Amino acid sequence: MSRFFVGITGASGHIYSEALLQGLTAQGHQVDLAATPAGCLVLRHELGVEAGEAGELLDQALVPWLGEECASRIHAYPSNAVGAPPSSGTALTGASILCPCSMGTMARVRAGYSSNLVERVADVALKEGRPLVLVPRETPLSEIHLENMLELTRMGAICLPAMPGFYHHPQSIEDLIQHLIGKLFDRLGLEYQAGARWAGLQELTEESTQFSEGAGSP
Ligand SMILES: Cc1cc2nc3c(=O)[nH]c(=O)nc-3n(C[C@H](O)[C@H](O)[C@H](O)COP(=O)(O)O)c2cc1C
Repeated sequence: MSRFFVGITGASGHIYSEALLQGLTAQGHQVDLAATPAGCLVLRHELGVEAGEAGELLDQALVPWLGEECASRIHAYPSNAVGAPPSSGTALTGASILCPCSMGTMARVRAGYSSNLVERVADVALKEGRPLVLVPRETPLSEIHLENMLELTRMGAICLPAMPGFYHHPQSIEDLIQHLIGKLFDRLGLEYQAGARWAGLQELTEESTQFSEGAGSP
C-alpha cells in the first residue's frame, strides 16, 4: 500500500475529490489531505461538508463526509501547515494529486510560489521528480491557463482536466465521475474496477446506418 497526498482547491468539482478519496482508501492506501480556504468554501457549497474555518479541513469533518472506514485512512492537515511531514522531500509520497485544481493554484504551482501546504507539496513533487497529477477545472481556458498547463506538463506534471467523455454512454453523474477517476488511477498505475474499458466501436446497426444515410452526415 502507498501513501498519497490529495490537495483540494477552490475549483468546482469536489465530487471528484470525494470519489478519489473513496477510491484510494478502498484500496487500503493512506492519504494526507489538505484543502485551501477556497477549497473549503467550495466543498461546503457543493457537497455541504462543514470543512472548518479558513482552510482547516479537520479530521472531525471527514467521518460525516466520507464514513468511518474511509476517514480512518486519511490525515487532514490545515492548509497553512507548511511544516507538516508532506511538505518535505524526505516524505515518501506515492503521488500528489490536486483535485480539483483551480487556475490560481495551477499558476502558483507553475511559478513555484508555495504559499500553502497544497502548493508546497506540488512544488516538492516537481523538485523530487515524483508523480504530480493536476485535475484542473475551468472553461473557457485563457492563454494563461493553457500556457500554465503546457509548462507544467513539460515539467513532468500530468494535467488531467475534469473533462467528461460520453462515448461510454454514462447513465448517471456517478458514471461520469468514475470514468475520470479511472483515467486518473490508470496514470497512477493503480488497479481500477468500476470503470468499463473501451472495447471498440460496436458494428453499425441498421437503424444508425439508415439515420446516417438519411441525415446526409452523422
Ligand atoms: C462556487 C465557486 C466555484 C468556483 N469554480 C472555479 C473553477 O471551476 N475553476 C477555478 O479555477 N476557480 C474557481 N473558483 C474560484 C477559486 O475558488 C478562486 O480563484 C480561489 O482564489 C482559488 O484559490 P485556491 O487556488 O487557493 O484554492 C470558484 C469559486 C467559487 C466560489
